[in-house]
Amino acid sequence: MGASKPSFVAVALWVLLGSLLYGAGASEGSLFYGADASNITVVGGDQGWTFGFNYTDWALKSGPFYLGDTLVFKYDPPNGTNHPHSVYLLRDLNSFQSCDLKRALLVGNVMQGGGKGFYFTLGLRTTHYFVCGEKQGFHCNQGLMKFSIKPLKRPCHH
Ligand SMILES: *[C@@H]1O[C@H](CO)[C@@H](O)[C@H](O)[C@H]1NC(C)=O
Ligand SMILES: *[C@@H]1O[C@H](CO)[C@@H](O)[C@H](O)[C@H]1NC(C)=O
Ligand SMILES: *[C@@H]1O[C@H](CO)[C@@H](O)[C@H](O)[C@H]1NC(C)=O
Repeated sequence: MGASKPSFVAVALWVLLGSLLYGAGASEGSLFYGADASNITVVGGDQGWTFGFNYTDWALKSGPFYLGDTLVFKYDPPNGTNHPHSVYLLRDLNSFQSCDLKRALLVGNVMQGGGKGFYFTLGLRTTHYFVCGEKQGFHCNQGLMKFSIKPLKRPCHH
């Protein structure tokens, strides 16, 4: 597995970098993709990021998603009585299907979903495998807190 690990790390870095760059530019409209060319979508809509909601279904019905679009994950930080959530990116389809969190990349910790939520901008044209990482994959497996998105290149309007 020596060969695949560095490329995942590289992808992970690009995802983070893309997220930072595009995230930072999101409110200025679209430096990178042209005028009014990005959407901000709250994952799960009114339900937010929560146990038992079918995010596969949500993603199917909410797409397509384009490069530069932003996802917002909303979940309450731990408060002593709730079940905290988080956002991880998994490395491939296999780990996604089995909710295997080994070598997953943490992108939003249990604190980051509060308030206005955790913002993630789709900056790379690869399939993004989003899952909740809590309870060793139980939220992902049994709670349906998983979905994948492959952002499309936004069609040019000229
Ligand atoms: C934003 O999302 C809405 C609803 O899915 C869609 O109708 C609209 O075309 C999208 N806008 C852009 C710029 O992608
Ligand atoms: C979630 O939604 C997907 C896509 O609509 C569907 O195939 C799947 O059966 C649903 N899962 C559950 C547990 O309802
Ligand atoms: C803790 O958060 C949950 C939602 O995640 C909320 O329903 C509950 O009221 C909160 N409890 C306290 C003590 O703030």
